[in-house]
Amino acid sequence: MKKSKYNVAVIGVGAVGVEMLRVLRQRNFPVAELRVFARSARDIEVDGEKYSVKQISPEGFEGIDIALFAGTEGEKGAAITYASEAVKRGAVVIDNGADFRMDPKVPLVVPEVNAKDVKKHKGIIANPNCSTIQMVVALWPIYKKAGIKRIIVSTFQAASGAGRSAVEQLKEETSIITSRGFSSLRVDVENKSLPQQLAYNVFPHIGGFSECDYTNEEWKLVKETHKIMHDNKIKISATTVRVPVRTGHSESVYIETGKRIEPDLVRKILSKAPGLIVMDEPRKSLYPMPIDAEGRDETFVGRIRQDCFVKNGLWLWVVADNLRKGAATNAIQIAECVISNWK
Ligand SMILES: NC(=O)c1ccc[n+]([C@@H]2O[C@H](COP(=O)([O-])OP(=O)(O)OC[C@H]3O[C@@H](n4cnc5c(N)ncnc54)[C@H](OP(=O)(O)O)[C@@H]3O)[C@@H](O)[C@H]2O)c1
Repeated sequence: MKKSKYNVAVIGVGAVGVEMLRVLRQRNFPVAELRVFARSARDIEVDGEKYSVKQISPEGFEGIDIALFAGTEGEKGAAITYASEAVKRGAVVIDNGADFRMDPKVPLVVPEVNAKDVKKHKGIIANPNCSTIQMVVALWPIYKKAGIKRIIVSTFQAASGAGRSAVEQLKEETSIITSRGFSSLRVDVENKSLPQQLAYNVFPHIGGFSECDYTNEEWKLVKETHKIMHDNKIKISATTVRVPVRTGHSESVYIETGKRIEPDLVRKILSKAPGLIVMDEPRKSLYPMPIDAEGRDETFVGRIRQDCFVKNGLWLWVVADNLRKGAATNAIQIAECVISNWK
């Protein structure tokens, strides 16, 4: 199966799919033929490169080695309908959605944490949710050094995390409010894809509500972290919040470690860990922000500090580009692991 170049398909040209096209080129992924699929055919341009998007069909996967899925989730979504068709034709599927993430037969991979799980795949590998990816990249080096018993995370998630249409909603709301000279901050646009107004607002509601009154997005942080770290005992509580940022999720993360670890040692360990950048000089106003992370592949960590009341308690502020490390980059890193394992 080892070749010098591979036939690659990208499914979906929304917020994540477009970023995949960009990341494939920027990382010089060894592409022989690239096929781009969506629900409807059209020509698109990304960074001056033209791509001909074809309407998705099972036959379109003939001869494809790696299929990167970034379509919508659920029953009529791209992955449920076409992933098995791609696998049947010999492709390895890397899926960005939630459809296969908790399937015990499907590895859920963040290469900085559990790259070895890639080898267990049976045709499909799942890419975790954006908010999980950046959190585990930051916590894994601490977990290896001191163990982690408890995580309490509050997220501040950008509009693009809900796809292209959510960014359009934020743009339209912002433009209406500013054009009115801020005379009223309430606006109701016609094509609303988010559950609330996002411009000049924040809301603690991402995904539907489920067990324990957590949202699905909050459960993803719990269950995906357990699966990736292979430790179901970590007690994890999450509150996920949508904020009026275009791209770049931020997270306030509280952890209780198994043994005490000083913030200075945490800074040192994280500075040497793959995929991480420590930006932690708060008195000089240096801490990560989404505008620093947008367009970058690394996860940024700052505000590393001891809890004042809990001996083994630590706080961190974690930021990453949800479309890159939170989606496209992580998926393509998985693809790189897949081809490096091929003999
Ligand atoms: N946005 C993020 O930060 C993020 C992070 C991690 C994971 N994800 C996941 O990644 C996936 C894509 O998200 P997104 O934000 O890019 O969504 P999006 O902006 O809404 O774009 C979805 C794309 O998928 C295509 N598509 C939808 N259903 C399809 C089908 N049945 N067959 C073929 N193509 C189909 C659409 O085609 P048309 O253009 O023809 O309509 C569109 O191009 C979702 O599963 C999402 O949960 C997103």
